[in-house]
Amino acid sequence: MMLPGTASSSVSPFHRVEDPRRLQALIDAMLLIEADVDLPVVLRKIVESAVELAGARYGALGVVDESGTGLAEFVTVGVDGDTIAAIGSPPEGKGVLGLLVRDPHPIRLADISLHPDAAGFPPGHPPMRSFLGVPISAGGELYGNLYLCDKQGQAEFNQEDEDVIGTLGLAAGLVVDKARLVARLRELTLSEERERIARNLHDTVIQRLFAVGLSLQSSLRLVEQPEAQERISLAVEDLDETIRQIRTTIFAISRSKRRSGQGLRAQVLDLLDEAAGRLGLEVKVTLDGPMDTAVGEACAEHLLLALREAVSNVVRHAGASTIDVRIVVDPPSDLRMTVYDDGVGIDPAALGGPGRGLANLGERARLLGGACSVARRPGGGTELAWEIRRLS
Ligand SMILES: Nc1ncnc2c1ncn2[C@@H]1O[C@H](COP(=O)(O)OP(=O)(O)OP(=O)(O)O)[C@@H](O)[C@H]1O
Ligand SMILES: [Mg+2]
Repeated sequence: MMLPGTASSSVSPFHRVEDPRRLQALIDAMLLIEADVDLPVVLRKIVESAVELAGARYGALGVVDESGTGLAEFVTVGVDGDTIAAIGSPPEGKGVLGLLVRDPHPIRLADISLHPDAAGFPPGHPPMRSFLGVPISAGGELYGNLYLCDKQGQAEFNQEDEDVIGTLGLAAGLVVDKARLVARLRELTLSEERERIARNLHDTVIQRLFAVGLSLQSSLRLVEQPEAQERISLAVEDLDETIRQIRTTIFAISRSKRRSGQGLRAQVLDLLDEAAGRLGLEVKVTLDGPMDTAVGEACAEHLLLALREAVSNVVRHAGASTIDVRIVVDPPSDLRMTVYDDGVGIDPAALGGPGRGLANLGERARLLGGACSVARRPGGGTELAWEIRRLS
């Protein structure tokens, strides 16, 4: 990884630091990378080290926002809590800080207020004069900037300060890279863990319940008392119901795996295949319109989750044997999904219950400019309509 500002220099700033004490302090600060602590804690330590290493009165670290034009976060050292509260909102990335975001190179100034880009300080902000800012890159992109103000005992920061802090910025970038990697690994383990539990439940628990049910059924022949027979039959029915519930739970927790390159159409078909296989539903499906090209990723995620909830409702509540799913994509902005089942038909009074599923479906639709409705069908069963007006 290379800092934008040092890309052309043949000697790394690290090698230009001559004072052995500063070099030692710099190395100590860089060893923070190995410390296994949270990112915000490490970032704060980086600012503290920067302030100390450069002999500055104030230090801060700004994290660039998603648009890459302003600041999303701001960690400060040297300004007390009351003053921060009096200033109000943290800097958004205007003025010289904004310049560093747009053009990430080290900047050293004797007086920040004299820079042509200076935006001035808000009321309550302590006066600051000399300034040193260096960029922090992570994963090949600008992550943020490290800022220092008011060199103590001298009028301004010097070249060696810039080299030391530049190197610390490099270390900060590595910390961010490492923290992101750890977070990604954690996420991966978590989803693998879910899949593993789901498979386990399915393979062991369901098989066992199924076996118990079968042996109970065969023992029915051996029992003569009608009352005992009745009880055994009820127990078998209970087991069947339990198996069905477990299957639905597994279906609900195992989110469809996103294989890279797999389009929305294939994911919808996979989900319905899973429903047919695991839940024993007969599935009819009609997909119409440019599903793979016109529907954005966020919208596709909402659609898949909405469909999963609709299917799980049919299995849990409808007692249906058939489900009919139709999805029509009508660019530039419309998508309509209808889910029909041939079950008992929804009781309108059930909508006031504690369930969250249908409410979530409505929220997802509204988020995308649409609406969701559910109704009993005249011929029996339930019809759910989920319509949206934004495909991205
Ligand atoms: N396809 C359907 N057929 C019959 N009744 C249904 C159907 N879908 C939903 N219902 C009824 O509507 C109620 C509310 O559904 P909703 O999805 O909001 O909650 P839930 O499924 O009970 O719980 P959750 O989704 O939070 O796990 C259900 O409890 C059920 O009585
Ligand atoms: Mg539900």
